[in-house]
Amino acid sequence: MAENEDEEQEMIEIFAMGKKYEVPKGLTIMTALEYAGYKFVRGCGCRGGFCGACATVFRKKDEYKLRMDLACQTAAEDGMYLVQLPFVPAVREEYDIEEVDPEEHDNVLLDYYPEIARCVSCNTCTKSCPQDLDVMDFVQAALRGDIERTADLSFDCIQCGLCTIRCPADIKHYHLAQMARRIHGKYNQEYSDELQKRLEEIEEGKYDEKMKELIEMCEEDLRERYEERDMQGEEEG
Ligand code: FES
Repeated sequence: MAENEDEEQEMIEIFAMGKKYEVPKGLTIMTALEYAGYKFVRGCGCRGGFCGACATVFRKKDEYKLRMDLACQTAAEDGMYLVQLPFVPAVREEYDIEEVDPEEHDNVLLDYYPEIARCVSCNTCTKSCPQDLDVMDFVQAALRGDIERTADLSFDCIQCGLCTIRCPADIKHYHLAQMARRIHGKYNQEYSDELQKRLEEIEEGKYDEKMKELIEMCEEDLRERYEERDMQGEEEG
């Protein structure tokens, strides 16, 4: 029998949608809610902090303050009150990528997201970002019409929307930044022959077998394969 096997699991109390549950200590908010019997039909994706699907609102014991974070990355604590958001309801502006050539607009990002002019530089967006991105800086870059900097600074955005939930100026930072990256990719970056070739190979089914192999691998082997991968250009220079 393994050591500690018969030791009692320490339990904590959480409140989900106002109802009290006892759950084992050490779970994330996501797994604590599942332990309590909730089934995620939305608001849950990768479970690893990458997809941005699991924005959650909570209050800690004896605190009046509302906090927001990713449910899959935040530990459940004793006395927490939890509310799950199925998604962040910020409106994404519609645009046709063929019609947003930055050469033909003074500031195309400002045209579609005029609320960025209301930024009060409070930096709350930056503080709420689970990816530690310089969110306020990319909003300021967008305001100056600097699409490349907006795209670069937001490159690791996972679209969780936590910045937007906290913004007093109603800025939709993550939608704005996604638009900047798309425009930058289409209009500013060089056309890639390698990418085109790779897309054709994928369509022809060249990688179907390899994909099947990856899908069937366990996480540990997959991580090992990822660490050992060859990156284009790594062996050069
Ligand atoms: S489930 Fe993907 S970031 Fe939490």
